[in-house]
Amino acid sequence: KQRFLSSLDALDNSVPPANRQQDRNLPPQPLPHDSFKDTPDTDPSLPANRDWGRAILERVPSSTLGSAAVEAAFINDEAKLNDAITTAVEKGKAWGALSGAERAEILHRAGDVLEARRADLLEVMASETGKTIDQGDPEVSEAVDFAHYYAESARKLDKVDGATFVPAKLTVVTPPWNFPVAIPAGSTLAALAAGSAVVIKPARQAARSGAVMVEALWEAGVPRDVLTMVQLGERELGKQLISHPAVDRVILTGGYETAELFRSFRQDLPLLAETSGKNAIIVTPSADLDLAAKDVAYSAFGHAGQKCSAASLVILVGSVAKSRRFHNQLIDAVTSLKVGYPEDPTSQMGPIIEPASGKLLNALTTLGDGENWAVEPKKLDGTGRLWSPGVRYGVKRGSYFHLTEFFGPVLGVMTADTLEEAIDLQNQIEYGLTAGLHSLNSEELGVWLDSIQAGNLYVNRGITGAIVQRQPFGGWKKSAVGAGTKAGGPNYLAGLGDWAPATSTA
Ligand code: ALA
Repeated sequence: KQRFLSSLDALDNSVPPANRQQDRNLPPQPLPHDSFKDTPDTDPSLPANRDWGRAILERVPSSTLGSAAVEAAFINDEAKLNDAITTAVEKGKAWGALSGAERAEILHRAGDVLEARRADLLEVMASETGKTIDQGDPEVSEAVDFAHYYAESARKLDKVDGATFVPAKLTVVTPPWNFPVAIPAGSTLAALAAGSAVVIKPARQAARSGAVMVEALWEAGVPRDVLTMVQLGERELGKQLISHPAVDRVILTGGYETAELFRSFRQDLPLLAETSGKNAIIVTPSADLDLAAKDVAYSAFGHAGQKCSAASLVILVGSVAKSRRFHNQLIDAVTSLKVGYPEDPTSQMGPIIEPASGKLLNALTTLGDGENWAVEPKKLDGTGRLWSPGVRYGVKRGSYFHLTEFFGPVLGVMTADTLEEAIDLQNQIEYGLTAGLHSLNSEELGVWLDSIQAGNLYVNRGITGAIVQRQPFGGWKKSAVGAGTKAGGPNYLAGLGDWAPATSTA
């Protein structure tokens, strides 16, 4: 049991954890950044790394990292916002005139600085958003990966035959709070790699984390006017920013409603939005049930379920629904999760971002028709932020829980007689971001692959933690709005500018 539990908070990414101590000494010369390789996460099994993590956590309660930059980024009036936009467009011209290879140099440096500031990024995320180190660490790796990956993509833009890439002049980036480093970094680095100036407005709840990321990029040599960070004093300024005519791309990661709102500001808005999710893992009788239970628990409750990629439903097929095996494993895994604030190094599931309210509070406290708690979520303190995980059985087709996104630590269990019925239950959901199948039967795999409607498909693995380059990330249906190329994939930069016929030199 001990082994099983410890694997829950291990890194679900398939990159073999590297010994970071050794990494620091080898190789003697830095590798040339001529090919992309995913960055290893910190190996928590090494005592030295655990000490390193504990030292970070000691700084968390009094952390003020990023505060000054956030304060300096506050804009309270229309004229100042217009100034910031005009300056970014003006200074961005020189940035856009650099070759992709020249921008790549700076972006590779950005990857190195982000890596060097790993501890700071973990500190600020834990302090500001409650993210535990084991969740934050792969996120920093992802940010580093985005820098190196998009740097190499920028080089490729120089070499496209028959067409010339014309950078966007200004890209607005509006990231979410749930991945307060990786997502703002990914969107910003992509736009910069594609030669555009960027105005980023980090999420209010994660402004300091965004600021430390932005500082890292400035430190690497991205000019301050080319990458401008703002926090807006009033809602109306957000509308002004999004609908400003100088803005020619908006990269949003957030709720579907936010994408609709942005569209309502400006009909022709060139939007790249990764939006809501309501994701399910299907478990068939041919699955490795121990692995499935572990992956479901991690996908549902990692970062307290606050990932667009998280599992909100598990759909048990045929005998899996009736056997005690999977249930016992799942319930054991869920009830033994240690819930607490990230300052406590033993916490495996942290707090939710704000006191539970609205739909999420409803999902944590009320049951639908025919539903019952296998594990009832409990409010653990007076803040309203700390909840133990919940698992509800008996979720019916077409019910509120079946179809609604909640973004928190609550998992619904559904049952289906056949794989086809399970797929149909998932496809009935209007979103299509991630989906998982646990099955060791290749025919089942074929059926599922042919018919499941989601952007990122995972087999015999958890459904969170997409790896840059290997698992480009993005959804379909109502999980994506606008130009839907996938982040961390080969085509992402191509959508961030325009293409003109190459001028013939003959
Ligand atoms: N890219 C994030 C994940 O895959 C959202 O979990």
